[in-house]
Amino acid sequence: MADGGRYRRRRHAAFSHVDGQVVRKPHQPHFQSRDYNPLNGDVQRWFEPVLPTLADNPVTQAIFDTCIAVISDVDAPVPNNPRHIELHQFRIETTPDHIGRPTPEGLHRDGVDWVFVMLVCRQNVRDGVTEIGAPDGTGLGSFLLEDPGDAVLLDDRRILHGVTEIHAVDPTCRAYRDVLVITFTR
Ligand SMILES: [Fe+2]
Repeated sequence: MADGGRYRRRRHAAFSHVDGQVVRKPHQPHFQSRDYNPLNGDVQRWFEPVLPTLADNPVTQAIFDTCIAVISDVDAPVPNNPRHIELHQFRIETTPDHIGRPTPEGLHRDGVDWVFVMLVCRQNVRDGVTEIGAPDGTGLGSFLLEDPGDAVLLDDRRILHGVTEIHAVDPTCRAYRDVLVITFTR
């Protein structure tokens, strides 16, 4: 992390949704403009690739299909314009020395159209509350993705999101929060 932290582990993959199929793209860097990520933006960042066991997993494919079905209900169709999808596996660790910050930039946009966040695991973790806000930063609510599979799908053009720091329930044991984040952009 540009703040010197090493509390975030991640893998990354990119896909294209075209002709009703989600197809993996060659491994590529993740790019976020500094407009959306003041901390780590404006640089191409290479991460380890998501392993095929996750990318090709029927559950992952079902998540793609479900999100695309919802998105297609809301957004006007754009013919001949493949949808770009990025999949991020995140693990945020927290220790007494380094507090785990899922979103060190606070309430933010990802700079995409839609963001899907699904909790995979909370191991010995408290807090890590998801907060959402209006584009002007006004808070709109907060909720906890608590159990594996708890998820949120956000219209990134209209809603800011952030997650509070995580803390260990038992500071003598490992503590981490795993999520899957999938973004969709035209
Ligand atoms: Fe985000």
